[in-house]
Amino acid sequence: MSINFKKIAKEFGTPVYIYDFNYMKEQYRSLKEAFEGQKSLITYAIKANSNLSVIANFAKEGSGADCVSIGEVKRALLAGVEPYKIMFSGVGKSYDELKEALELKILMVNVESQAELYLLEEVAKELGVEARVSIRVNPNVDPKTHPYISTGLHENKFGVDIDMAKRMYIYSKNSQNLDPVGIHFHIGSQLTNLEPIAEAAEIIADLVRSLKAIDIDIKFFDVGGGLGVRYSDEVLIKPKDYANAIKKAIKGLDLTIICEPGRYLTANGGYLLTKVLYEKQNGNKRFTIVDAAMNDLLRPSLYNAYHRIEVIDKDGELTETDIVGPICESGDFLGKNILMPELEGGDLLVVYSAGAYGFTMSSNYNTRPRVCEVAIEDGNTRVIRRRETFEDLIEQEKLYLQN
Ligand code: LLP
Repeated sequence: MSINFKKIAKEFGTPVYIYDFNYMKEQYRSLKEAFEGQKSLITYAIKANSNLSVIANFAKEGSGADCVSIGEVKRALLAGVEPYKIMFSGVGKSYDELKEALELKILMVNVESQAELYLLEEVAKELGVEARVSIRVNPNVDPKTHPYISTGLHENKFGVDIDMAKRMYIYSKNSQNLDPVGIHFHIGSQLTNLEPIAEAAEIIADLVRSLKAIDIDIKFFDVGGGLGVRYSDEVLIKPKDYANAIKKAIKGLDLTIICEPGRYLTANGGYLLTKVLYEKQNGNKRFTIVDAAMNDLLRPSLYNAYHRIEVIDKDGELTETDIVGPICESGDFLGKNILMPELEGGDLLVVYSAGAYGFTMSSNYNTRPRVCEVAIEDGNTRVIRRRETFEDLIEQEKLYLQN
């Protein structure tokens, strides 16, 4: 789909996040179709992009939600996700969060430690309910991705090892207030290699078999998220191969597969549109200063992540420039050594693949209001979050100011 970036800049100002809802829907459908012939539930990992309208766009397709705070659970519900399709994961859920999650009658709490299991049991007892539990197992598989987004090795803080998982399942089975119905693993994000996922699925499926043997009947096999996307020239895992590898691992078992993609559903449906403010040359080094910054899109600064950047309607001789924002940090850049024609104030640049972990990781650093988000759906463009104002930023402090 071709997007009229100039028109959007004129109408909504810059910087602005733009989401292509039709693309996101297509991504959802492609994955759902890959699991055809198998009981499956896609729970969109809303941490990737938790705008209510984005979640609603998936909910209308039948998607569930993978949440990592009670705030995300409440967002999912507000956006129309059915409670029985909501998973609550995360290494550090508090007493209050667990209580609220049980009261909201979500599908499952995904437990990540023995201590958390005991606390969940206590909370369930207080409420007089049986908590549906899944346990996040750390299969100790190297996903071969960026170390910051790798989660399936024992050296990472996530999940529990297999022996501990077994003990926790047996404990849950014997508890009046715990119902162990699910098993979960997630080995990392931006995965472009199928083997580690297949290996992890085999390991966890074997564990399910040994649990069935002792009468612990797991119903949900949650394979996490992590499917990689194309930022530049990555060779991707095909959804069908992914689904087949998982189906193969669980052969003979009666399970519903849960899959929790975030990036796959949203990354390439999102664009950050920014305006050039100035160009300057420090010695031999060229800089293009734009109105978006690391507070709007942190990935380049935090992970040295690459996002393709293109100029709208401008030709000329290309030379290398660093695309930087107005924030007072040397690490504030959106792209380094990017080939660009000569630019001037007012030119528009598009930062691609910005639909996942873009706005959700943004902040108000340097008292910069968070930007506007717009959606394009069936050719129509609409605001789905208005640009913040200075008033929004100081609201929670103003009352306490003593001059
Ligand atoms: N499930 C669990 C348990 C997760 O921890 C994550 C991501 C997902 C699902 C979704 O993963 P995805 O399908 O989006 O790869 N901020 C980083 C990514 C952090 C991912 C954290 N967990 C980035 O910008 O690359």
